[in-house]
Amino acid sequence: MTPGKFITLEGIDGAGKSTHIPDIANALRGRGKEVLITREPGGTALGEKLRELLLHEPMHAETETLLMFAARREHLEQVIRPALQRGACVISDRFTDASFAYQCGGRGVAADKVEQLERWVQGDFQPDLTLLFDVPVAISTQRLVAARDPDRFERERGEFFDCVRRAYLERAARFPQRFRVIDASKPLTEVKVLLDKIIATI
Ligand code: TYD
Repeated sequence: MTPGKFITLEGIDGAGKSTHIPDIANALRGRGKEVLITREPGGTALGEKLRELLLHEPMHAETETLLMFAARREHLEQVIRPALQRGACVISDRFTDASFAYQCGGRGVAADKVEQLERWVQGDFQPDLTLLFDVPVAISTQRLVAARDPDRFERERGEFFDCVRRAYLERAARFPQRFRVIDASKPLTEVKVLLDKIIATI
């Protein structure tokens, strides 16, 4: 157990999770907590270089999985664990649930391979709270169309995101003690009210 809290945000591309990060951070800071905002893949100098490759370079699904965990290894040791040790709240825009959702659910990589990597890279370490921004693919696709240049993941078809979404919901059902599923098709103000309530319990 570490003194800080590890909060992860998950959801399919276009679910809108990143929009809420500043508000979540401000709510925690308002309660006197140190907050560190980070993201995956990324979060370290090496991790950001791996992110560039992961988002733009064509590669085998298992190579993609291995690079996600290589970036995560650095991120955990250099950034996440030290911050938690000093009592900070760490908010990460995605973490290992994304590997189960995208690489297993979306790309079809065997779950036992990802479980092995999870055990290797993080042992028993898990987020204290995972906010899953859940939205039907038809809505997330509309949001993505309005967004900038799509990356390798954002260019995937609707069926890919249906599988990713289903895998996320399965994770949430399997680990109900740390997951909170948020209906991200609701208006932003309603989502914010719900998030404030959840954050107040941390
Ligand atoms: P994302 O977090 O959506 O950032 P942005 O909002 O800037 O596009 O992009 C990261 C992408 O990486 C996203 O499409 C999901 C993917 N990803 C995985 O496939 N597996 C993982 O383990 C992680 C952390 C991310």
